[in-house]
Amino acid sequence: MSPITIPPLSDDLVSVLIDADTIQRKVSELAQRISADYKECKELVVVAVLKGAFIFAADLCRQLSIAHTVDFIALSSYGNRDYTSGNVRLIMDVRENLANKDVLIVEDILDSGHTLSYLARNFAARQPSSLKTAALVSKPDRLITDIKLDYLGFEIPDVWVVGYGLDYAEQHRTLPYIAVMNRT
Ligand code: IMP
Ligand code: MG
Repeated sequence: MSPITIPPLSDDLVSVLIDADTIQRKVSELAQRISADYKECKELVVVAVLKGAFIFAADLCRQLSIAHTVDFIALSSYGNRDYTSGNVRLIMDVRENLANKDVLIVEDILDSGHTLSYLARNFAARQPSSLKTAALVSKPDRLITDIKLDYLGFEIPDVWVVGYGLDYAEQHRTLPYIAVMNRT
């Protein structure tokens, strides 16, 4: 694979918060932990939450050393553009039947926690054998639900970040690093 070229920061970005190498090392570490934890499991389904988790999930899954399938779900929340309001809406459901499967939800970022709490409740009703959650990034200062992550990459302060799947108004998702957005 050709090396990733690192694009320079555009004017609307303040700084790089987590560089590409640091992200890749963390993803490998998480993949090792998940592979070890699910070694005995029969049917692991990794569910990536679109759109934000598509890059994290792709990198993570390709480093899992255990058999698994991949599925996708798309959610949206009403309210203002930046922060979720708690009214989570299902846009596209998974295709697989999750009953009796070991389900791992892969999210990009945990902010208020509304999205993941909604998903955890929704998936629990489908009676999987087990249900766990992974997120690359969490903003503990913003968390207002009691959702607990099983796997977490990084804790960050209350800033708006973009890159590695994360966007601001659909921009910057494909940056290989995570950068702080200048929203003024
Ligand atoms: P929650 O439901 O408030 O936890 O919000 C989670 C969702 O809001 C994430 O899946 C992201 O789509 C979005 N989000 C929250 N914070 C950020 C951020 O800093 N950058 C990009 N998206 C974010
Ligand atoms: Mg998201």
